[in-house]
Amino acid sequence: MAQLIDGKQISKEIKDELKEKVAALKAQGIEGAMAVIQVGEDPASSVYVNNKKKACEYIGIRSESYELAESTSEQELLDLIERLNNDPKINGILCQLPVPAHMDENKIIRAIAPEKDVDGFHTQNVGALVVGQKGFVSCTPAGVIQLLKRSGIEIAGKHCVVVGRSNIVGKPMSLLMLKEHATVTICHSRTSDLQAVCKQADILIVAVGKPKMITADYVKEGAVVIDVGIHRQENGKLCGDVDFEQVEPIARAITPVPGGVGPMTIAMLMNNCVQAMTGEA
Ligand code: GUN
Repeated sequence: MAQLIDGKQISKEIKDELKEKVAALKAQGIEGAMAVIQVGEDPASSVYVNNKKKACEYIGIRSESYELAESTSEQELLDLIERLNNDPKINGILCQLPVPAHMDENKIIRAIAPEKDVDGFHTQNVGALVVGQKGFVSCTPAGVIQLLKRSGIEIAGKHCVVVGRSNIVGKPMSLLMLKEHATVTICHSRTSDLQAVCKQADILIVAVGKPKMITADYVKEGAVVIDVGIHRQENGKLCGDVDFEQVEPIARAITPVPGGVGPMTIAMLMNNCVQAMTGEA
């Protein structure tokens, strides 16, 4: 039986640690506030945004909500971001993605001041990660590192295979594993014989967005398997990119879906917010 990597528990531990840190900062007169922007009313985005605001409340950071109509112009959004960039009371700015099609997502991300970019999406923060300098790190991959470390899984020297090369997960994930001294292979939709490459992994991290794509044939006996995917199945249940029932018996450790990587994203967002307050990032 594989060790179950409990993201719900680990994310709670992290949020509780941050809550204490925020209380200590408050005692020194340092208070934090995060601006959360949502453009339009996409129901999934509304759920994420609400959870982010609730997490702020839990750890003791004030959140300011900006709910803009779908018809908002790109310039209006850029003006709001500029105002928040210049507001000394605001430490962190988050614009929930996706933005409506009439906006240039990259332009919006670049408009956020890098020192307030708690999502870690700005090219300056991504560049800092590449060269190993201080900066905000994308929350989901940062959460995976915490899951591994807090579950006692050694990374240095291990062969890590990352499946997926997105800007938000795959690329920063690979750089973070490299920083932890893993030997890293990045796979994607054009990788030849993906199955054979995955089967070499000591640590297999999957972020492809395809339900149950990774079956037992992709996994080496005793591997650690991290599943970043989340999908609603026809029967209403959630599943990941990994076929859990097949893979769990051969893995040494595995993240469940739900309750694995998912809860870590918000915990690490809160970590970035606290770093924004202290100027650590
Ligand atoms: N949309 C999906 N995931 C994210 C995220 O981590 N941050 C933001 N801002 N938008 C998202």
